[in-house]
Amino acid sequence: MAVVSGLLLLMLSILFVEARTQPNQFGEIHLGSQLSPISNLHSWQSPSGNFAFGFYSQGNGFAVGIWMMGQPNNTVVWTANRDDEPVSFNATIHLSEEGKLLLRTEQGNENLIANVSEIAASASMLDSGNFVLYNGSSVIWQSFDYPTDTILVGQNLTYSDKLVSSVSSSNHSSGRFFLAMQADGNLVAYPTNSAGLSVDAYWASNTYQDSKKGLSLYFNHQGFLFMDTVSKKPVLLARSSYSCNNKTTIFRATLDADGIFRLYSHCLENKTSRSVHIEWSALNNQCDVQGFCDFNSYCSGMGANADCSCYPGFAFNDPSEKFSGCYKNVPKSFCTGTKEGQMYDVITVENILFERYPYSVLDEKKENCGLSCLEDCLCDVALYKNERCEKYTAPIRYGKKDINESSIAFFKVKPTPAAPPMSLTIIIESKKSLLLFLAIAFGSVTFLCFVIAISTFCVYRDRAYLYEKLSGIISLAGEFTLRSSIKVDVSTPDEMNLPSWAYQCFAAGQLDKLVKDEDIEFESLERMVKIGLLCVQHDPASRPCIKNVILMLEGSDDIPAPPAIAPFRITA
Ligand SMILES: *[C@@H]1O[C@H](CO)[C@@H](O)[C@H](O)[C@H]1NC(C)=O
Ligand SMILES: *[C@@H]1O[C@H](CO)[C@@H](O)[C@H](O)[C@H]1NC(C)=O
Ligand SMILES: *[C@@H]1O[C@H](CO)[C@@H](O)[C@H](O)[C@H]1NC(C)=O
Ligand SMILES: *[C@@H]1O[C@H](CO)[C@@H](O)[C@H](O)[C@H]1NC(C)=O
Ligand SMILES: *[C@@H]1O[C@H](CO)[C@@H](O)[C@H](O)[C@H]1NC(C)=O
Ligand SMILES: *[C@@H]1O[C@H](CO)[C@@H](O)[C@H](O)[C@H]1NC(C)=O
Ligand SMILES: *[C@@H]1O[C@H](CO)[C@@H](O)[C@H](O)[C@H]1NC(C)=O
Ligand SMILES: *[C@@H]1O[C@H](CO)[C@@H](O)[C@H](O)[C@H]1NC(C)=O
Ligand SMILES: *[C@@H]1O[C@H](CO)[C@@H](O)[C@H](O)[C@H]1NC(C)=O
Repeated sequence: MAVVSGLLLLMLSILFVEARTQPNQFGEIHLGSQLSPISNLHSWQSPSGNFAFGFYSQGNGFAVGIWMMGQPNNTVVWTANRDDEPVSFNATIHLSEEGKLLLRTEQGNENLIANVSEIAASASMLDSGNFVLYNGSSVIWQSFDYPTDTILVGQNLTYSDKLVSSVSSSNHSSGRFFLAMQADGNLVAYPTNSAGLSVDAYWASNTYQDSKKGLSLYFNHQGFLFMDTVSKKPVLLARSSYSCNNKTTIFRATLDADGIFRLYSHCLENKTSRSVHIEWSALNNQCDVQGFCDFNSYCSGMGANADCSCYPGFAFNDPSEKFSGCYKNVPKSFCTGTKEGQMYDVITVENILFERYPYSVLDEKKENCGLSCLEDCLCDVALYKNERCEKYTAPIRYGKKDINESSIAFFKVKPTPAAPPMSLTIIIESKKSLLLFLAIAFGSVTFLCFVIAISTFCVYRDRAYLYEKLSGIISLAGEFTLRSSIKVDVSTPDEMNLPSWAYQCFAAGQLDKLVKDEDIEFESLERMVKIGLLCVQHDPASRPCIKNVILMLEGSDDIPAPPAIAPFRITA
């Protein structure tokens, strides 16, 4: 009997706990409720089931936020403390008995999700997508007051509020753009890493307000976005037109990761089918988003087909994320200490425009504009436009290519080394492999040997010529490789050259470092490297004679251990 009633009590209490931690029929969440990413209860849903608050997966862990249920993917509309690291599956969300909404991490830290001094009596995930805390009679906190990248119907963006784009559609940390509701009544979009000045703005609602009160961006139930001014009539910014067959439609306006502010409608055809429509875009051309391509790169293409390219003389900071900008791939010291102008070439790019704050403006002819940059150590690029020559120093930002722009930009670049054309092409095509250009170098040796043999020994009796040539090929190849996109594991590319690096790998018995991707026979690699190292000795006496090189290459001669090669600074 006692056992039975004990069981009954246990079941009742389980039921009671379940009932208390689930929202009731009015969507009310009681104190003492909690969520965990790995339990069945990882979110609190709105009564309609269209919105949920709780844990969603982010990276290798979880973030806390609000999402719109969707097929195939949910749409995250709000994230708490979005720049915090994702938490592990051991974290829990509590609406504590003390009336606080907090996130408890596995280290035992407690972070406030709702930073509010009042004590909550209950919470609710509303059908509007707003998560609110009540003190019993009034709302004391609501997610609608802390927008991230999205506003929903009924939510306002008021003076000093802003939307900040997400990093990407799967990473909801703060991204590269923001949309500010300014004191002057203008809603303006800027890149995040800018001062937010008018030169940085790439889109604006062009609505203004004299008195600084009451102006806000308001989203009504028809899916219309208004700029609501106190004195004048509201200005319609954007409207939705998709009919959705009279079914439930959820609207949202998001500053997307690409910097464009868009109005979406989500049409809930039935439980399993939901269609998403872009109702309005603030901009139609991706390249109109200033800073979409970061420093020292420019945007090209139309509509959504945008691409970022580095200016001549620059290389991608991160080749896998081309919008992340480019760096000058010529050492800073390059210009100083040399006779200015001599070490550079000029590459012209037409129809380019970028932010125009030249340090110098000259009345030069087009032909002299590039030359003037060439002779000026400060100058990285000269822009010839409207019969004026403007000189700039990197970094250059907000670059884009526009066929309607009649401008010519002259970029100062390091001259490409005049390596034999064949080897250069092959180097470019070779996949990060050192082996190939070693082979090419030796290919040149054997080729030269043929030449030598045929045109009799007398002509090129002097070995120095050949060694110079060979050494040149190898170090040019090395320089080219280290400076270009081919990334080798060398910490300071400018202070290493290929022969000394190859020697270090050889001495350390780590020749595999030289050939990252290729399947090669180790013994022939070792032989080649040894011969290569012998051939590029600084001291001519240490170099083998050509006859021996050929014998070594054939494998019929022993190869002595090459002496060390000291690293030297690459000088242009
Ligand atoms: C999201 O992006 C930020 C900024 O690029 C980065 O620091 C963070 O690690 C990313 N988070 C995840 C989960 O990938
Ligand atoms: C849904 O999410 C997955 C994983 O993040 C992604 O690969 C896929 O493209 C998404 N689908 C849509 C329609 O966004
Ligand atoms: C989660 O907690 C359990 C029990 O405290 C622990 O054994 C486990 O290592 C934790 N997992 C992580 C990923 O921290
Ligand atoms: C909570 O808000 C107060 C005042 O608005 C602020 O000083 C404090 O830093 C905030 N705390 C957290 C954890 O965000
Ligand atoms: C709830 O907050 C409102 C406004 O701050 C206040 O007027 C009311 O007295 C509070 N109610 C309770 C039960 O604390
Ligand atoms: C937004 O503004 C409207 C009036 O402009 C107001 O009725 C509504 O309560 C506001 N919404 C929020 C969430 O503050
Ligand atoms: C939607 O509803 C309105 C009024 O209820 C009706 O006039 C209209 O024909 C309906 N449209 C569709 C596509 O069903
Ligand atoms: C939901 O709507 C889609 C498209 O309108 C349709 O193909 C599908 O059969 C519908 N599913 C259900 C369960 O009604
Ligand atoms: C260039 O100008 C033409 C005619 O004015 C226009 O149709 C076209 O869209 C413009 N192209 C760009 C890239 O702005």
